[in-house]
Amino acid sequence: MKTIVITGGTDGIGRGLAEHCLDDGYDVLVVGRSEAKGEAFASLSEHAHFLPADLSLIEANRRVIGQIAERFPKIDVLVLGARYHRSARTVTGDGIESNFALFYLSRFLFSHGLAGPLRRAEHPVVLNFGGAGLTTPIRWDDLQLEHGYHGVSAMGHAGRLNDLLAVDFLDRHADTDIRYVINLPGVVVTSFAGEYEHSPVTASQVEELRVVGKPVSQAVAEILPFLRPGGDRLTAVREGRRLALEPSAWDATEARRLHDLTQAVLAEHDHRTVRRQL
Ligand SMILES: NC(=O)c1ccc[n+]([C@@H]2O[C@H](COP(=O)([O-])OP(=O)(O)OC[C@H]3O[C@@H](n4cnc5c(N)ncnc54)[C@H](OP(=O)(O)O)[C@@H]3O)[C@@H](O)[C@H]2O)c1
Repeated sequence: MKTIVITGGTDGIGRGLAEHCLDDGYDVLVVGRSEAKGEAFASLSEHAHFLPADLSLIEANRRVIGQIAERFPKIDVLVLGARYHRSARTVTGDGIESNFALFYLSRFLFSHGLAGPLRRAEHPVVLNFGGAGLTTPIRWDDLQLEHGYHGVSAMGHAGRLNDLLAVDFLDRHADTDIRYVINLPGVVVTSFAGEYEHSPVTASQVEELRVVGKPVSQAVAEILPFLRPGGDRLTAVREGRRLALEPSAWDATEARRLHDLTQAVLAEHDHRTVRRQL
Protein backbone atom coordinates (compact mmCIF):
# COMPACT_ATOMS: atom_id res chain seq x y z
CA MET A 1 0.00 0.00 0.00
CA LYS A 2 1.28 3.49 -0.85
CA THR A 3 1.64 6.19 1.80
CA ILE A 4 1.20 9.93 1.49
CA VAL A 5 2.02 12.44 4.25
CA ILE A 6 0.48 15.92 3.94
CA THR A 7 1.32 18.93 6.11
CA GLY A 8 -1.63 21.31 5.96
CA GLY A 9 -3.73 18.26 5.03
CA THR A 10 -6.56 19.28 7.35
CA ASP A 11 -7.84 21.98 4.97
CA GLY A 12 -7.69 23.49 1.49
CA ILE A 13 -5.70 21.85 -1.29
CA GLY A 14 -3.96 19.53 1.18
CA ARG A 15 -7.30 18.19 2.37
CA GLY A 16 -8.47 17.83 -1.25
CA LEU A 17 -5.36 15.78 -2.07
CA ALA A 18 -5.83 13.75 1.10
CA GLU A 19 -9.38 12.73 0.14
CA HIS A 20 -8.37 11.97 -3.44
CA CYS A 21 -5.51 9.72 -2.29
CA LEU A 22 -7.74 7.98 0.26
CA ASP A 23 -10.17 7.10 -2.54
CA ASP A 24 -7.17 5.96 -4.58
CA GLY A 25 -6.17 3.38 -1.93
CA TYR A 26 -3.35 5.22 -0.13
CA ASP A 27 -2.62 5.29 3.56
CA VAL A 28 -2.98 9.03 4.19
CA LEU A 29 -1.53 10.95 7.13
CA VAL A 30 -2.44 14.62 7.54
CA VAL A 31 -0.70 17.04 9.91
CA GLY A 32 -2.32 20.26 11.09
CA ARG A 33 -3.22 22.22 14.18
CA SER A 34 -6.97 21.71 14.33
CA GLU A 35 -7.93 18.55 16.23
CA ALA A 36 -11.53 18.91 15.06
CA LYS A 37 -10.60 19.00 11.35
CA GLY A 38 -7.93 16.32 11.76
CA GLU A 39 -10.21 13.92 13.60
CA ALA A 40 -13.01 14.51 11.09
CA PHE A 41 -10.57 13.40 8.38
CA ALA A 42 -9.32 10.42 10.39
CA SER A 43 -12.90 9.23 10.89
CA LEU A 44 -13.31 8.73 7.12
CA SER A 45 -11.42 5.43 6.99
CA GLU A 46 -9.00 3.16 8.79
CA HIS A 47 -6.43 4.40 6.25
CA ALA A 48 -6.92 8.06 7.21
CA HIS A 49 -4.62 9.29 9.97
CA PHE A 50 -4.03 12.58 11.75
CA LEU A 51 -1.17 13.98 13.80
CA PRO A 52 -1.74 17.33 15.52
CA ALA A 53 1.19 19.74 15.57
CA ASP A 54 2.01 23.42 15.47
CA LEU A 55 4.54 23.26 12.66
CA SER A 56 5.76 26.80 13.28
CA LEU A 57 7.76 25.36 16.20
CA ILE A 58 11.03 23.52 15.58
CA GLU A 59 10.62 20.86 18.30
CA ALA A 60 7.04 20.11 17.18
CA ASN A 61 8.35 19.44 13.67
CA ARG A 62 11.09 17.17 14.98
CA ARG A 63 8.61 15.30 17.18
CA VAL A 64 6.09 14.55 14.41
CA ILE A 65 8.82 13.77 11.87
CA GLY A 66 10.15 11.17 14.34
CA GLN A 67 6.66 9.75 14.90
CA ILE A 68 5.96 9.59 11.16
CA ALA A 69 9.27 7.87 10.36
CA GLU A 70 8.60 5.30 13.06
CA ARG A 71 5.05 4.63 11.87
CA PHE A 72 5.75 4.68 8.12
CA PRO A 73 9.16 3.22 7.20
CA LYS A 74 8.29 3.93 3.53
CA ILE A 75 6.69 7.14 2.25
CA ASP A 76 5.72 7.46 -1.41
CA VAL A 77 4.53 11.07 -1.46
CA LEU A 78 5.32 13.95 0.89
CA VAL A 79 3.20 17.09 0.46
CA LEU A 80 4.29 20.33 2.15
CA GLY A 81 1.31 22.68 2.30
CA ALA A 82 0.90 24.14 5.81
CA ARG A 83 0.70 27.91 5.73
CA TYR A 84 -0.78 30.76 7.73
CA HIS A 85 -0.99 34.36 6.54
CA ARG A 86 0.12 37.07 8.98
CA SER A 87 -0.68 40.65 8.06
CA ALA A 88 1.64 41.89 10.82
CA ARG A 89 5.12 40.52 11.48
CA THR A 90 4.98 37.88 14.23
CA VAL A 91 7.62 35.72 15.85
CA THR A 92 7.02 32.18 17.06
CA GLY A 93 7.77 30.83 20.53
CA ASP A 94 11.25 30.01 19.14
CA GLY A 95 11.73 33.70 18.32
CA ILE A 96 11.63 33.02 14.56
CA GLU A 97 9.60 35.06 12.07
CA SER A 98 6.39 33.11 11.49
CA ASN A 99 6.49 32.76 7.66
CA PHE A 100 10.13 31.73 7.76
CA ALA A 101 9.25 29.21 10.48
CA LEU A 102 6.08 27.63 9.04
CA PHE A 103 6.27 28.24 5.31
CA TYR A 104 9.98 27.48 4.95
CA LEU A 105 11.76 25.98 7.97
CA SER A 106 9.10 23.32 8.64
CA ARG A 107 9.33 22.25 5.00
CA PHE A 108 13.13 22.13 5.26
CA LEU A 109 12.86 19.89 8.34
CA PHE A 110 10.22 17.62 6.77
CA SER A 111 12.08 17.27 3.45
CA HIS A 112 15.40 16.29 5.00
CA GLY A 113 13.87 14.53 8.02
CA LEU A 114 11.75 12.17 5.91
CA ALA A 115 14.33 11.51 3.18
CA GLY A 116 14.98 8.07 4.73
CA PRO A 117 11.39 6.75 4.37
CA LEU A 118 11.12 8.44 0.93
CA ARG A 119 14.23 6.60 -0.25
CA ARG A 120 12.49 3.27 0.40
CA ALA A 121 9.63 4.01 -2.01
CA GLU A 122 9.81 2.91 -5.61
CA HIS A 123 8.91 6.32 -7.09
CA PRO A 124 9.19 8.83 -4.24
CA VAL A 125 8.11 12.42 -4.75
CA VAL A 126 7.96 15.58 -2.64
CA LEU A 127 5.33 18.16 -3.56
CA ASN A 128 6.05 21.59 -2.11
CA PHE A 129 3.90 24.67 -2.72
CA GLY A 130 6.61 27.24 -3.44
CA GLY A 131 7.28 30.09 -5.82
CA ALA A 132 7.74 27.86 -8.90
CA GLY A 133 10.38 30.12 -10.38
CA LEU A 134 9.21 33.50 -9.08
CA THR A 135 12.14 35.88 -9.26
CA THR A 136 11.32 37.77 -6.04
CA PRO A 137 14.77 38.87 -4.77
CA ILE A 138 15.92 37.02 -1.68
CA ARG A 139 16.53 39.31 1.29
CA TRP A 140 19.81 37.69 2.26
CA ASP A 141 20.55 40.21 5.01
CA ASP A 142 17.03 40.06 6.40
CA LEU A 143 15.67 36.54 5.83
CA GLN A 144 13.27 36.95 8.74
CA LEU A 145 11.87 40.21 7.38
CA GLU A 146 12.54 42.56 10.27
CA HIS A 147 12.38 45.56 7.94
CA GLY A 148 9.45 46.63 5.76
CA TYR A 149 7.28 43.58 6.50
CA HIS A 150 4.22 42.97 4.31
CA GLY A 151 2.16 39.79 4.73
CA VAL A 152 1.65 39.09 1.02
CA SER A 153 5.27 39.67 0.04
CA ALA A 154 6.38 37.61 3.06
CA MET A 155 4.58 34.62 1.55
CA GLY A 156 6.14 35.30 -1.86
CA HIS A 157 9.56 35.47 -0.22
CA ALA A 158 9.00 32.16 1.56
CA GLY A 159 7.87 30.64 -1.76
CA ARG A 160 11.20 31.62 -3.26
CA LEU A 161 13.08 30.04 -0.32
CA ASN A 162 11.20 26.80 -0.98
CA ASP A 163 12.33 26.82 -4.62
CA LEU A 164 15.93 26.95 -3.40
CA LEU A 165 15.19 24.27 -0.80
CA ALA A 166 14.22 21.96 -3.68
CA VAL A 167 17.47 22.66 -5.56
CA ASP A 168 19.67 22.04 -2.52
CA PHE A 169 17.66 19.03 -1.33
CA LEU A 170 18.14 17.28 -4.69
CA ASP A 171 21.87 18.05 -4.60
CA ARG A 172 22.21 16.53 -1.14
CA HIS A 173 20.13 13.46 -2.04
CA ALA A 174 21.60 12.99 -5.50
CA ASP A 175 22.08 9.27 -4.88
CA THR A 176 18.31 8.69 -4.54
CA ASP A 177 15.32 8.54 -6.89
CA ILE A 178 13.46 11.22 -4.94
CA ARG A 179 11.78 13.77 -7.25
CA TYR A 180 10.78 17.24 -6.09
CA VAL A 181 7.82 19.12 -7.55
CA ILE A 182 7.32 22.80 -6.78
CA ASN A 183 3.78 23.96 -7.41
CA LEU A 184 2.16 27.37 -7.58
CA PRO A 185 -1.54 26.55 -7.92
CA GLY A 186 -2.96 29.98 -8.82
CA VAL A 187 -5.94 31.33 -6.89
CA VAL A 188 -7.83 28.51 -5.21
CA VAL A 189 -10.83 28.92 -2.89
CA THR A 190 -9.61 27.47 0.39
CA SER A 191 -9.75 28.50 4.03
CA PHE A 192 -7.00 31.09 3.30
CA ALA A 193 -5.81 30.33 6.83
CA GLY A 194 -4.51 33.42 8.55
CA GLU A 195 -5.19 36.66 10.32
CA TYR A 196 -5.83 39.68 8.16
CA GLU A 197 -6.97 42.23 10.73
CA HIS A 198 -3.88 44.46 10.44
CA SER A 199 -4.38 44.87 6.71
CA PRO A 200 -7.93 45.74 5.59
CA VAL A 201 -6.65 45.89 1.99
CA THR A 202 -5.43 42.27 2.11
CA ALA A 203 -8.62 41.22 3.91
CA SER A 204 -10.79 42.65 1.14
CA GLN A 205 -8.50 41.14 -1.54
CA VAL A 206 -8.99 37.72 0.06
CA GLU A 207 -12.77 38.20 -0.09
CA GLU A 208 -12.42 38.92 -3.83
CA LEU A 209 -10.24 35.82 -4.28
CA ARG A 210 -13.00 33.74 -2.70
CA VAL A 211 -15.22 34.84 -5.59
CA VAL A 212 -12.82 34.49 -8.52
CA GLY A 213 -10.71 31.52 -7.36
CA LYS A 214 -10.97 28.00 -8.71
CA PRO A 215 -12.27 25.11 -6.61
CA VAL A 216 -9.91 22.83 -4.69
CA SER A 217 -10.95 19.91 -6.93
CA GLN A 218 -9.50 21.74 -9.95
CA ALA A 219 -6.23 22.55 -8.16
CA VAL A 220 -5.93 18.88 -7.17
CA ALA A 221 -6.64 17.68 -10.73
CA GLU A 222 -3.99 20.08 -12.08
CA ILE A 223 -1.21 18.73 -9.88
CA LEU A 224 -1.96 14.99 -9.86
CA PRO A 225 -0.27 14.22 -13.22
CA PHE A 226 3.01 15.52 -11.81
CA LEU A 227 2.92 13.11 -8.86
CA ARG A 228 2.80 10.03 -11.08
CA PRO A 229 6.03 8.06 -11.63
CA GLY A 230 8.46 9.44 -14.21
CA GLY A 231 9.53 12.94 -15.01
CA ASP A 232 12.53 15.05 -14.10
CA ARG A 233 14.05 15.20 -10.62
CA LEU A 234 12.98 18.84 -10.30
CA THR A 235 9.74 20.05 -11.83
CA ALA A 236 8.13 23.48 -11.49
CA VAL A 237 4.40 23.70 -12.12
CA ARG A 238 2.14 26.72 -12.28
CA GLU A 239 -1.61 26.15 -12.60
CA GLY A 240 -1.11 22.70 -14.06
CA ARG A 241 1.54 23.77 -16.58
CA ARG A 242 5.13 22.70 -16.37
CA LEU A 243 7.59 25.61 -16.50
CA ALA A 244 11.10 25.87 -17.91
CA LEU A 245 13.66 26.08 -15.09
CA GLU A 246 15.31 29.47 -15.59
CA PRO A 247 18.86 29.18 -14.12
CA SER A 248 18.56 32.57 -12.36
CA ALA A 249 15.67 31.31 -10.21
CA TRP A 250 17.11 27.87 -9.41
CA ASP A 251 20.71 28.68 -8.61
CA ALA A 252 22.68 25.95 -6.79
CA THR A 253 25.09 28.41 -5.14
CA GLU A 254 22.20 30.44 -3.71
CA ALA A 255 20.53 27.20 -2.65
CA ARG A 256 23.65 26.12 -0.72
CA ARG A 257 23.94 29.55 0.86
CA LEU A 258 20.35 29.28 2.08
CA HIS A 259 20.99 25.77 3.40
CA ASP A 260 23.97 27.03 5.43
CA LEU A 261 22.01 29.99 6.83
CA THR A 262 19.16 27.63 7.74
CA GLN A 263 21.53 25.30 9.56
CA ALA A 264 22.84 28.34 11.48
CA VAL A 265 19.27 29.23 12.56
CA LEU A 266 18.73 25.65 13.77
CA ALA A 267 22.11 25.54 15.53
CA GLU A 268 21.33 28.78 17.35
CA HIS A 269 17.94 27.39 18.41
CA ASP A 270 19.57 24.20 19.72
CA HIS A 271 22.28 26.16 21.50
CA ARG A 272 19.66 28.33 23.23
CA THR A 273 17.66 25.25 24.23
CA VAL A 274 20.71 23.59 25.79
CA ARG A 275 21.60 26.81 27.66
CA ARG A 276 18.06 27.03 29.04
CA GLN A 277 18.29 23.43 30.27
CA LEU A 278 21.56 24.02 32.16
N1 LIG B 1 -5.24 29.04 -1.92
C1 LIG B 1 -4.56 29.72 -2.83
O1 LIG B 1 -5.11 30.53 -3.59
C2 LIG B 1 -3.08 29.52 -2.94
C3 LIG B 1 -2.37 30.32 -3.86
C4 LIG B 1 -1.00 30.15 -3.97
C5 LIG B 1 -0.35 29.20 -3.19
N2 LIG B 1 -1.07 28.44 -2.32
C6 LIG B 1 -0.32 27.48 -1.50
O2 LIG B 1 -0.97 26.23 -1.43
C7 LIG B 1 -0.71 25.61 -0.16
C8 LIG B 1 -2.01 25.18 0.47
O3 LIG B 1 -2.77 26.37 0.68
P1 LIG B 1 -4.33 26.33 0.97
O4 LIG B 1 -4.86 27.67 0.57
O5 LIG B 1 -4.89 25.11 0.34
O6 LIG B 1 -4.35 26.18 2.56
P2 LIG B 1 -5.41 26.66 3.65
O7 LIG B 1 -6.79 26.31 3.24
O8 LIG B 1 -5.09 28.09 3.98
O9 LIG B 1 -5.00 25.71 4.85
C9 LIG B 1 -3.79 25.87 5.51
C10 LIG B 1 -3.38 24.56 6.15
O10 LIG B 1 -2.20 24.82 6.92
C11 LIG B 1 -2.40 24.31 8.23
N3 LIG B 1 -1.68 25.14 9.21
C12 LIG B 1 -1.75 26.48 9.40
N4 LIG B 1 -0.95 26.85 10.41
C13 LIG B 1 -0.37 25.73 10.87
C14 LIG B 1 0.56 25.46 11.91
N5 LIG B 1 1.08 26.43 12.67
N6 LIG B 1 0.93 24.17 12.12
C15 LIG B 1 0.42 23.17 11.36
N7 LIG B 1 -0.44 23.36 10.35
C16 LIG B 1 -0.84 24.63 10.11
C17 LIG B 1 -3.89 24.40 8.45
O11 LIG B 1 -4.22 23.43 9.43
P3 LIG B 1 -5.21 23.70 10.67
O12 LIG B 1 -6.36 24.47 10.14
O13 LIG B 1 -5.50 22.32 11.11
O14 LIG B 1 -4.37 24.47 11.64
C18 LIG B 1 -4.45 24.01 7.10
O15 LIG B 1 -4.50 22.62 6.96
C19 LIG B 1 0.02 26.65 0.69
O16 LIG B 1 1.41 26.41 0.68
C20 LIG B 1 -0.26 27.94 -0.04
O17 LIG B 1 0.75 28.90 0.15
C21 LIG B 1 -2.42 28.57 -2.17
